[in-house]
Amino acid sequence: MNDSETNGTRGLALVTGASTGIGYELARGLAARRYDLVLVADDDAVRPVAAEFAPQGITAHAIEADLATNVGLAEVRRSLDALERPIEVAALNAGVGAYGRFDRIPIDADLRVIALNVTATVRLAKYVLPPMVDRGHGRVLFTSSSTAALPGTLFATYAASEAFVHSFAATIRDELADTGVSITTLMPGITDTDFFDRAGMENTKIARGPKADPEDVAQQGLEGLFAGKDRVEVGAAQRV
Ligand SMILES: NC(=O)c1ccc[n+]([C@@H]2O[C@H](COP(=O)([O-])OP(=O)(O)OC[C@H]3O[C@@H](n4cnc5c(N)ncnc54)[C@H](OP(=O)(O)O)[C@@H]3O)[C@@H](O)[C@H]2O)c1
Repeated sequence: MNDSETNGTRGLALVTGASTGIGYELARGLAARRYDLVLVADDDAVRPVAAEFAPQGITAHAIEADLATNVGLAEVRRSLDALERPIEVAALNAGVGAYGRFDRIPIDADLRVIALNVTATVRLAKYVLPPMVDRGHGRVLFTSSSTAALPGTLFATYAASEAFVHSFAATIRDELADTGVSITTLMPGITDTDFFDRAGMENTKIARGPKADPEDVAQQGLEGLFAGKDRVEVGAAQRV
């Protein structure tokens, strides 16, 4: 019996960074496609977000965990194990930036970018992919950035982390080409989310300039994911 036969939906989708911005819109798009949800974020605001989906007949679990820490990652793995349901779709989307000249940014801020954008992404990919390969199907959407292929001036660790995610996802896609598991990279341009406030750049020209709608970004990402595309570039022309 596959997962979809047990509860009337298409199965379970994991979304990290699901409380706001692009991740929230990915969750909404997956619910509209009839996936039950596991939503991960650092703050307890993820709980009311999960509750939003009940009227649609979607079961949404909230996991409050700091993915930039080993404790938080262990908590996510424990909570996912406890569900005893296969993950059909994973959107590894949580990410933050640290803005400023590298020599002036506190090292802890840089290391947190790497811990969340790189380490947590690799650890969660290692968690979700082997069972997908064993089952012979599954889809993973990695949120990188349109800045992945460029020097990210005033965003050194962030741009490098997004370059890592882009390369990592493209390579896994290649490696898993014959397994039935599909990997897609979402590469947004500047998008209207809380990202800029979190990165300490609310008063910058970029943050005040034109931005893409996170709903459009997420929808195009999901269309690409379900079409089996390698990557989806979407969003305002400026790059973050
Ligand atoms: N916005 C843009 O212009 C842009 C452009 C290119 C790429 N991206 C990428 O798109 C992705 C989504 O960002 P966004 O723009 O939607 O930003 P956002 O609105 O700030 O959302 C970030 C999400 O990640 C969660 N998060 C942050 N730190 C976390 C942690 N340590 N552990 C667990 N969850 C954590 C946040 O939850 P809490 O509130 O609970 O912390 C929130 O749900 C990121 O990977 C970002 O790099 C964004």
